[in-house]
Amino acid sequence: MKPMIEVENLTKRYGPVLAVDNVSFAVDEGKVIGFLGPNGAGKSTTLKILTCYLAATSGTARVAGFSVFRDSMEVRRRIGYLPENVPLYPEMRVREYLRFRARLRGVPANRRKVVVAQAAERCWLTQPMDVMRRRIDQLSKGYRQRVGLADAILHSPQVLVLDEPTIGLDPTQIRETRHLIHDLGREHTVIFSSHILGEVEQVSQEVIIIAGGKLVAQGRPADLRQQVSGGLRLSVEMRGGDRSAMASELKKAPGVRDVEVLGDGEWVQMRVTPATGHDPRPEIFKTVAARGWQLREIRREMASLEDFFIQKTAATAKSKD
Ligand SMILES: Nc1ncnc2c1ncn2[C@@H]1O[C@H](COP(=O)(O)OP(=O)(O)O)[C@@H](O)[C@H]1O
Ligand SMILES: [Mg+2]
Repeated sequence: MKPMIEVENLTKRYGPVLAVDNVSFAVDEGKVIGFLGPNGAGKSTTLKILTCYLAATSGTARVAGFSVFRDSMEVRRRIGYLPENVPLYPEMRVREYLRFRARLRGVPANRRKVVVAQAAERCWLTQPMDVMRRRIDQLSKGYRQRVGLADAILHSPQVLVLDEPTIGLDPTQIRETRHLIHDLGREHTVIFSSHILGEVEQVSQEVIIIAGGKLVAQGRPADLRQQVSGGLRLSVEMRGGDRSAMASELKKAPGVRDVEVLGDGEWVQMRVTPATGHDPRPEIFKTVAARGWQLREIRREMASLEDFFIQKTAATAKSKD
């Protein structure tokens, strides 16, 4: 299967500023991709190039097999774009605006009413209250964002490009937008940018991380987490035996690579590093039970994607110095 989005050696300079530095990635059809990076990483620039709003300095980008430089009309037809700052007409009413946009996109007159109603429904513009009759300048930031999203899906594009769709929203709106992105992912390939990791992790099947204009990682959140140095670790608290004896017995349990004793309380806390691909919790439990010791806790110290993000972006910042 050919990828829906292909970016190869993409570079963009704004005068002396190297905003995107030789970035390559591919996105398969039907995926929801989080495009993650700190402010100034080059996310908006990359998305503007993908949506034909900006020319690249060098490199190529294709959407559904069409070059964004040579076949920009074909690309625009297949893309719905929610820019960072949604350019809405403040004095228009929502329904009027969306019908106008549908006309601009070439939706035939007899289809516009239905198309607008469907997009409004999908972007929750009809509930809990009907905002379709309201003026755009009277809408909250959250509703404006939804109008922008409805606008982006009017022509049923194969690909949705959303630039920081949750910026400026309150926590409830952020949660709703997350649901919406998830829903949209059933029918579209979605790439959405964010500088907030938690947001991306929950809805994306894959994340692409950029920092300082460079691609630092791409993969499933779970796989990236695995790459965090250290990987899975267990925190174990037990008592009943001599500290070093308990540690050395635990170390002998199948699937355990290393044991480190922490603290010196009555309950001895140990950090257990499993052998790659092993989860030795049942074996630890068995060992403790067999010796008649007491176990208070076995907890997975999950490396978070946050750790990964910090490690990767810090490494990129360092290599730039
Ligand atoms: N029009 C522009 N002119 C000059 N520099 C720009 C312009 N747009 C963005 N930049 C710079 O390019 C870099 C990447 O910006 P941007 O793509 O907006 O990053 P992000 O969306 O990840 O925050 C930043 O250093 C930014 O200051
Ligand atoms: Mg941006």
